[in-house]
Amino acid sequence: MSVRVAKSAGFCFGVSRAVELVQQAAAAGKRTLTLGPIIHNRHVVEQFAAAGVRVIDSPEEAGPGDTVVIRSHGVSREVYKRLESTGAEIIDATCPFVKRIHGLVSQAEAEGRLPVIIGTPTHPEVEGIAGWCTDCRVFENVEAMEKWVQEENVPPDLPVCMVSQTTSTEFLWKKCVQFAKKQFTYLQTFDTICRATECRQREASELSQRCEAMVVVGDLKSSNTGRLAMICREHCDKVFLVDNASELNLDDFRSVSDVGITAGASTPAWIIKEVNKT
Ligand code: F3S
Repeated sequence: MSVRVAKSAGFCFGVSRAVELVQQAAAAGKRTLTLGPIIHNRHVVEQFAAAGVRVIDSPEEAGPGDTVVIRSHGVSREVYKRLESTGAEIIDATCPFVKRIHGLVSQAEAEGRLPVIIGTPTHPEVEGIAGWCTDCRVFENVEAMEKWVQEENVPPDLPVCMVSQTTSTEFLWKKCVQFAKKQFTYLQTFDTICRATECRQREASELSQRCEAMVVVGDLKSSNTGRLAMICREHCDKVFLVDNASELNLDDFRSVSDVGITAGASTPAWIIKEVNKT
């Protein structure tokens, strides 16, 4: 049986950086906390917990002497301020690509534009971005945007600035931009989809067209892993979404000659290696 692992499988730049910053803080003997789990992967979070890194849910759980790491998703301005007021040291591991979006929406608002974010409203990255302006709109898809325009009778001369959640798909973004271009005279758009995500999705799509079975490795709660499985299912009938090697059932691969492996941005290399070996 031939097994091909996608080159883009596993940690992206932003996740890798966040994990390294936690490792460095803990290794330096700092009392290290992360605001929320550092990444969507329970194995990594458990390893950190064993090394004494604690996960907190709100800034107020930190205090002087603590070091708090902000994860790659980023946080709102308000959460950042609350963290500062605890007296804890802050290590900001917000991915620079996400940080750029914070600046874009904040500047757009200062220029009198309404920031519009294309993404999942409840996703922490989107909540963080929305928190860098006082007023904005978040739409999951073009239908939601159309509904807003119709129901609220939004005027065409409203200056709108559109950005995207970094893990959104090109297809979704383009549909929204197409609609907005027809709708708004003074439209400004910034395609802020992360190219690492785009490349991973494209590779998963290509690999799944060439393989009889696909294994997608990642935390079941991670939206980017779920999206990868969805993309693979468009081309391949046998797609297995697993958290780690122990979840593989070898009987599923008996009559298969070609297997592809891809993994979400939060999957560490050692888990991918174990799946490959199995
Ligand atoms: Fe950053 Fe892109 Fe990863 S936005 S966290 S490098 S998926």
